[in-house]
Amino acid sequence: MEILNYDIVILGSGLAGMRAALQAAKANGKLKIALVSKLHAMRSHSVSAEGGISGVLYPGENDDSLELHAFDTVKGSDYLADQDAVDVLVNNAPGEIKLFDHLGVPWNRDSKGKVVLRAFGGMSINRTAFAADKTGFFMLNALYDNLISFPNVEIFHEHVATKLIMSRGVFKGLAAIDLATGDMRVFLSNAGIIATGGFARSYGFTTTAYSSTGDGIALAYKEGIQLKDMEFVQFHPTGLIPSGILITEAARGEGGYLLNSKGERFMEKYAKSKMELAPRDIVSRSIMSEIEDGKGITDDRFGDLEHVHLDLRHLGEEKLNERLPMIREISMKMIGLDPSREPLPVRPVAHFTMGGIHTDINGKAANGLWAAGECGCVSVHGSNRLGSNSLSQCVIWGRITGNAAAQLATKSRRVPYDSVKKIVDEEEMRISELLNRKGTENPYDIRRELWSTMDRDVGVYRNLRSLMKAKAKVASLKARLGRVHIGDKSRIYNTNFRDAIEIGNMVRLSEAVIEGAILRKESRGAHAMREFPKRDDKNWMKHTLVRAVGDGIKISYLKVKAGRFKPMERKY
Ligand code: FUM
Repeated sequence: MEILNYDIVILGSGLAGMRAALQAAKANGKLKIALVSKLHAMRSHSVSAEGGISGVLYPGENDDSLELHAFDTVKGSDYLADQDAVDVLVNNAPGEIKLFDHLGVPWNRDSKGKVVLRAFGGMSINRTAFAADKTGFFMLNALYDNLISFPNVEIFHEHVATKLIMSRGVFKGLAAIDLATGDMRVFLSNAGIIATGGFARSYGFTTTAYSSTGDGIALAYKEGIQLKDMEFVQFHPTGLIPSGILITEAARGEGGYLLNSKGERFMEKYAKSKMELAPRDIVSRSIMSEIEDGKGITDDRFGDLEHVHLDLRHLGEEKLNERLPMIREISMKMIGLDPSREPLPVRPVAHFTMGGIHTDINGKAANGLWAAGECGCVSVHGSNRLGSNSLSQCVIWGRITGNAAAQLATKSRRVPYDSVKKIVDEEEMRISELLNRKGTENPYDIRRELWSTMDRDVGVYRNLRSLMKAKAKVASLKARLGRVHIGDKSRIYNTNFRDAIEIGNMVRLSEAVIEGAILRKESRGAHAMREFPKRDDKNWMKHTLVRAVGDGIKISYLKVKAGRFKPMERKY
């Protein structure tokens, strides 16, 4: 075991984590910062973000304004977003897009050199900046390239965090296993930022990487930190059949149509004015309604999942190559279809988790601890995020939390190891017991059963019966976690061990999703309940808070921070 002392430790190396590291490193060049990642930092899931980042780059043009961006976001959230946080988002997004311009992101530009903005769902106006359909890749590259020039930032790739070290509710560091050696490293620090992304991998059919298992959220939860709004899991309307790979919303932003088995542009029925560019909750519900109405499509070439068609043929090869080159390549490589010639088979797919670690408006989760990006619920997205608002959220709260952590670290002393030794020793014993246990449960069986439960029973539409079934199943999976057997006994790159930790995290978080969903007796945003088809502002304009109590969970509620945008019926 190695004990290391840092001024700031950041867990997670996606856009939020790296942006936080850059900010903290710039704020005080004397601070020693550790960036700890389960993956090689450049493989963080932000690298897969496709369609773009939102922000009012040209206020006044096409009547766009910060006010309109805020309104769209609050309406898109189905009025569950905290409006003060939404203001922070919209006010800071343009500055971040400009910063990334300086860092080297090749934003698409017009012939005069002006950054082009594209349409995205639920936005009144084109306000999404993009780099073809590889926006996350370019943004993460730019951050990484800049970050490695700071001598005070050290990146620890491929370290699986197993515990937050908290003393009387105050952050003191974390423990992680270095996959390359199997050794434990303890990162002591008075300031920590969790930026580990979401947990949409608790579904089998998902756009997210195998790594999106909500680790940081689960670690915080196990330490008694509250989670918020876990029942709101976003289903992106267009996951490619059969894998679930993301077909960016920009495909519809650039003019793609959705068609049912009768060849009808069915969105006309559900969102006459915005059509395919209604917010994701509405488009996903519409697709599922068409499928349930017998207007889904099956195609032997792609298995038995019913789907609809995304038609991009009319965009033509040239536009596809300029604006959506990766989508074309993915479709051709994954299913042998060229979208310039044939429509793509798509259906709603788990994509993003609106819920996460409960934080204040500055991303603070506990004393000395912040959460940034998808793992933190601040809450700007409420019950339904608008596409392209996530990249803005990541970098803005990366910057805010990086600054806050730097401020605290600048006036803090080092954490004495003796003060946390007992916690570290217990963690070392726990990991050793897990590795040496002669268990009877194969963790991959648990994961497979979790995926099928979440896919089947906790989907776009939920009902009490299916949720109760899911609750019982997840409770039994949780009990089985205690008997997990790790087959690989080696120390070097023990991916069985990593997977077992991730599976445990996903099971714990799924339990919170299901409990929140069972109790919320309304339909709002991504939570569509059969028994309660309407939004109920009188009783449910409140966030769900979940706390782990022993082995159980305790739910409470917190009033939404309302503001100038009063709830109204969402029509698009
Ligand atoms: O469709 C997309 O490109 C996804 C963007 C997002 O989730 O913000």
